[in-house]
Amino acid sequence: MYKNSDIYNTDAFTKLKEIPDHSVDLILTDPPYNLSAYSTGNMKFSWRKEINNDLAQWDKKDLNPADLKEDFMRVIKPTGNIFVFCSYNLIGKWHEVFDPLFDTFQFFVWHKSNPIPKFRKAGFLNSCELIVCMWNKGHTWNFGKQNEMHNFFESPICMSPERIKEPNHPTQKPVKLLSHLLKIASAENDTILDPFMGLGSTGVAALANNRKFIGIEIEENYFNSAKKRLDSLAIESLPFQGVSRCVCY
Ligand SMILES: C[S@@+](CC[C@H](N)C(=O)[O-])C[C@H]1O[C@@H](n2cnc3c(N)ncnc32)[C@H](O)[C@@H]1O
Repeated sequence: MYKNSDIYNTDAFTKLKEIPDHSVDLILTDPPYNLSAYSTGNMKFSWRKEINNDLAQWDKKDLNPADLKEDFMRVIKPTGNIFVFCSYNLIGKWHEVFDPLFDTFQFFVWHKSNPIPKFRKAGFLNSCELIVCMWNKGHTWNFGKQNEMHNFFESPICMSPERIKEPNHPTQKPVKLLSHLLKIASAENDTILDPFMGLGSTGVAALANNRKFIGIEIEENYFNSAKKRLDSLAIESLPFQGVSRCVCY
């Protein structure tokens, strides 16, 4: 447990029940995509390392957005925003469940400037990811200049040195992208929740931007890596902050 972040190595569906009502300003999360059914397995090449086309074990259980509805609606503040990374096959389900509950349901596009090449050249590169965004009137919103407020953001996928090598996570998100989103949709000292935090990238973005963070991750190796990242952020920030914003107690 940390001063400005509480992270839990457990199942999100259970832990969410313990989060108090209307205590979260922004849910910014990247849950499983249910893409395994479409996978043709990893791609092997003689001249380069294998391409992970198979995501991971954690994507093999079917995630149903309806199972998150009750807890998301209970924990979010009336002024809060919910941003969820979402694959093409689930966008309809997120819309069906959440659109009736919010004044606005919009999508945001992350364009990856360095997507994995299509070696067989038979189809588009998978260079875009969708993020569904929802809120009610009166929500926290830091509108920048018009040209900064497109529902589009371009950045490379996570590269070294940001990319964690061990454990490798196939879907580690860039902190730059997460920072962009949370700076628009929350204020300093707000509480950001990521119940599927993986390597804790949302937590790193939250603490770096003076927000509080609650994170949940079921896989122990990913959780440990997230903890290490958040710890090192605390150490790095000590000389500059004068106080530790993220200290174990
Ligand atoms: C798409 S990944 C998130 C990656 C993360 N955005 C990052 O940058 O590292 C989804 C994560 O949800 C975790 N997960 C899957 N089911 C879960 C559950 N029931 N409770 C908590 N975490 C879960 C997986 O282990 C996986 O790390």
